[in-house]
Amino acid sequence: MSNIQQQVFGTMPDGEQVDSFTLSNNQGSSVTLLTLGATIQSWKINDHNGQSDIVLGFDKVEGYLADQGYIGRTVGRYANRIANGRFCIDGTEYNVSTNLQGNSLHGGVDGFHNRIWSVGGLVDDSPSVTLNLLSPDGDQGFPGNLEVKVTFTLDDDNCLSIEYYAQSDKDTLFNPTQHSYFNLAGHDSGDILSQQVRLMASHYTPADEHAIPTGEIISVKNTAFDLTQLSVLAERVKSQDPEIKAASGLDHNWCIDGFDPAQHTARTAATIVDPKSARKLIMRTTMPGVQVYTANFLGDTQGKEGALYGQYHGVCLESQFYPNSPNEPGFPSPVLRKDSEFRSTTTYQLVATEH
Ligand code: GLA
Repeated sequence: MSNIQQQVFGTMPDGEQVDSFTLSNNQGSSVTLLTLGATIQSWKINDHNGQSDIVLGFDKVEGYLADQGYIGRTVGRYANRIANGRFCIDGTEYNVSTNLQGNSLHGGVDGFHNRIWSVGGLVDDSPSVTLNLLSPDGDQGFPGNLEVKVTFTLDDDNCLSIEYYAQSDKDTLFNPTQHSYFNLAGHDSGDILSQQVRLMASHYTPADEHAIPTGEIISVKNTAFDLTQLSVLAERVKSQDPEIKAASGLDHNWCIDGFDPAQHTARTAATIVDPKSARKLIMRTTMPGVQVYTANFLGDTQGKEGALYGQYHGVCLESQFYPNSPNEPGFPSPVLRKDSEFRSTTTYQLVATEH
């Protein structure tokens, strides 16, 4: 039996077809990906607690087109914020599309998340699917023809690995991420506030009221941002810390310990634990930062299979260069040089909590 099932998911308003690919493993898990936005549409698991789908999503193309929360999408060219949509590379100034409070968020008005990606390859026995996108020179104001490939692989240890590759014919920026909202109890089970999070991060980047970093990298010690031990999300989301209050919850960048641009092995960045279902998700990444976002701005939304989603109904673990890093010389650089190759890996593995 094939480990990959291809189906027609729907059609775009202009008639273009959206395909889905479902990768299945021998643990009874399956992940469905869409060519629309290189989106993770579902991650169904079958474990000691029975069947659950642990990511938020929609049944139809229309749901994705109406969504403002980037649910499940691949985000680019620049995930998170660029202050005033402005940056310089070697003295040349670029102005990119701004779409939030005068800043550029998640690639601008027409980011990668609503594009139709093409299928670059399928490997049945891993199983994996590669989705490709060509972003032309000047797309949303970003320089260079950028060729992007994202490969999703599901293995028999319930590890979903996402490998990003890009190349450009001009110096540009590249900072992709995956914007899945995880709910380990099931996408339709309400808020995640009783779940716990741990981050391998002894520092974070404080930010202003529009979530633009101040440029400092500070220790989490004795702050509400210290998530180095497993912490209940409710306590953090409802913290009186002014930065957390300003964001109505967690929506901040942590600096994952041990970043080394020459190191291509993903290091453990974050874990989420749901004590009730005894499920744990381990995130690993080669990237310097992770944005933890607790769905603070998710308004009531009709999701898959009649589920109603709302504020705090999922948690995103977005691997990334730090926000606004093109304008912060003290942050790891998101510049992709002409004709050099960008490669990064982020993985999400589901295990039982006794592991
Ligand atoms: C990211 C941002 C948030 C919000 C969501 C999408 O996590 O940091 O501020 O824009 O995406 O709603």
